[in-house]
Amino acid sequence: MEKFIVHGGKTLSGSVNISGSKNASLPILAATLLTREQCVIRRVPDVSDTNYMLQILQNLGAEVERASGNVVIRCEKLRGHEAPYDLVRKMRASVCVMGPLLARHNRADVSLPGGCVIGDRPIDLHLRGLQGLGAEARVEGGNVHLEARYGLSGSEIDMSGKHGATVLGTDNVMMAAVLAKGTTVITGAACEPEVVDLANFLNAMGAKIRGAGTPRIEIEGVAELGGVEHTVIPDRIEAGTFLVAGAIAAKDRITVNRVDPEHLSVVTDVLRRCGCPIEANGSSLTVGRAAKPVGANITTEPYPGFPTDMQAQMCSLFATTPGTSVVRDTIFPQRFMHAAEMKRMGADIEVTDGTAVIHGVERLSAAPVMASDLRASAALVLSALAAKGSTEISRVYHIDRGYEHIDEKLIGLGAEIERLPA
Ligand code: EPU
Repeated sequence: MEKFIVHGGKTLSGSVNISGSKNASLPILAATLLTREQCVIRRVPDVSDTNYMLQILQNLGAEVERASGNVVIRCEKLRGHEAPYDLVRKMRASVCVMGPLLARHNRADVSLPGGCVIGDRPIDLHLRGLQGLGAEARVEGGNVHLEARYGLSGSEIDMSGKHGATVLGTDNVMMAAVLAKGTTVITGAACEPEVVDLANFLNAMGAKIRGAGTPRIEIEGVAELGGVEHTVIPDRIEAGTFLVAGAIAAKDRITVNRVDPEHLSVVTDVLRRCGCPIEANGSSLTVGRAAKPVGANITTEPYPGFPTDMQAQMCSLFATTPGTSVVRDTIFPQRFMHAAEMKRMGADIEVTDGTAVIHGVERLSAAPVMASDLRASAALVLSALAAKGSTEISRVYHIDRGYEHIDEKLIGLGAEIERLPA
């Protein structure tokens, strides 16, 4: 296990390059199970979650090569249709092999991912969707067994749940439906850019998907799919995290390169309302600290609303923004593990029923803190950047799950961070 020591108070300047999207890469890697031909996927971030997905694919019989962000996968001969607990428990997104395995083998045996620190995270909507395509689902011994004895058939599937659409659920049904007989219509589909990237990948393989990025997706089943080369979209959450780093600690401005500003418009709108100067120039965004910072009230929502994956980072910004800010997470109301740790650094933050009320203090101060999940860890690093003293953040394996070399990228901007054995 490793820890970070963040020496606070250094200002940031210069530019940073954003990696390919973790959350787009994971289902795209799983989708390679749909063809016997070779797929080349570029800009796959080197983070533990993509490693876990590749381990699951290799365990199923995939041949994998990985170098400099490029992953070459051939799922010519698969050994089986099982994703065991040992591998699945490491990452919830493993469930997105269910759809492609069902499509390829008419069977999938996948261990249930279990709880997670950010909330309950059920998969009822995934199962409802796959059952709608003709699969039978049975949960036994902690595993979900799916079988489509007579193959999958297109149908009308409603994917909306009480917290809105499900991203990986939409992905799973889309990946199963591409090889189903007939036409599938998904209503209440997730509209996230990562769903669109998966649909583009599948269409390049020969699938017939229309409407991805809207709540209604139409999929005409095809008999088979072929190999493809694809470049993953930029990681909008990593980009948003660096924008907040600039809003907290830029000397003048920092530039965040290789982003899609459209995917980030809700985040940049909020930062602008908080007084931060932000400019877009092609695929770059520049950001600086607000001359007169003001807080905001934000509520997380499915895309194009404010992303839950940026909620913790905003809490870090608001911790030292004068006045009161309110952050409500409607998607994962329990996702506030960062709040208790930030309090140890002097933040004035109270969480009740999925809502954090934050009264900005002048400055945070260093304390030993513990990372609990991916975005909470990012929030602690951001909080530590401008804090007084040296903050020790333990369990940084959480941050390595989804941020490629975050310490080195911040050091490149002028931060002082050490990565040490714990
Ligand atoms: N939900 C259900 N039933 C289901 C599935 C989801 O009730 O069968 C609920 C969830 O409990 C939640 C809401 O629906 O309240 C939305 O969850 P969703 O299914 O969209 O989450 P996900 O697809 O499992 C992806 C991202 C998460 C991100 C969420 C929401 C990946 C690999 N993960 O998860 O990313 O928070 O969408 O945008 O794409 C992260 O990167 O830190 C992360 C957690």
